[in-house]
Amino acid sequence: MELQGRLALITGGAQGIGLTIAEELSGEGAHVILADVNLEGAQKAADSIKEKGGTAGAVRLDVSNAKEVQEVFNSISKEHKALDILVNNAGITRDGLMVRMKESDWDLVLSINLKGSFLCSQQAVKQMMKQKKGAIVNIASIVGLMGNFGQANYSASKAGLIGLTKTTARESAARGITVNAVAPGFIDTEMTRVLEESVREKLIEQIPLARLGLPEDIARCVAFLVSDRASYITGQVINVNGGMLM
Ligand code: NAI
Repeated sequence: MELQGRLALITGGAQGIGLTIAEELSGEGAHVILADVNLEGAQKAADSIKEKGGTAGAVRLDVSNAKEVQEVFNSISKEHKALDILVNNAGITRDGLMVRMKESDWDLVLSINLKGSFLCSQQAVKQMMKQKKGAIVNIASIVGLMGNFGQANYSASKAGLIGLTKTTARESAARGITVNAVAPGFIDTEMTRVLEESVREKLIEQIPLARLGLPEDIARCVAFLVSDRASYITGQVINVNGGMLM
């Protein structure tokens, strides 16, 4: 139980990779708070974690809304002793070829995937600086490193998140806070289930380990990065992609 007594906030924790990260951290003893625009989903997810013997809470949060972010972090600092772990996982796609991409789709993806992570990190770092410890993990993406057809907005948001990771790591390292990014390849979740079967098959052909990733593949990496075993790792981007990008 490496994370016994730690408090972890996971954005977008109602389903998919976020929920699996919450389950993994809970399994290591952390108290997890699932923050999601989908409050009902987050509550169900928290209940399922409690049924398995963990401790969990749910809160409604739109990460792109600065006021909501501040309120959620304020209430966490009032209700709990200290936030130890933040996982910026909330993310969306609005795909379309760059030349035809609507400005509104660009803005929405950037505001949730990138600005949302900035807003949450800003609040978390303020709290973590006081206690002189903490760990932040940003869920980036392989396409932030490679680019991808139809994902100008999404790949830019994830590339930006990598820059945010490194700057936040530099600015907060002296206070004992580590900040890293995990860049998943293609993972089997709702986000990729919208892809046509032929597209999925083409993707798998490009993956040396010959399968899509599982949310658990990402969650185990996050659990390591937020543990004391990774206390000398900061400002890094860990690729978890079955070898698709080497
Ligand atoms: P998902 O679509 O299954 O879950 C995303 C969660 O984020 C949902 O619970 C949703 O309600 C929540 N969310 C959406 N907008 C929000 C907002 N404004 N504020 C708070 N919560 C919000 O997605 P999945 O696949 O679990 O992805 C999780 C993260 O992993 C995302 O950042 C995604 O970009 C990233 N990722 C996913 C990959 C994949 O292949 N599934 C590959 C690489 C990265």
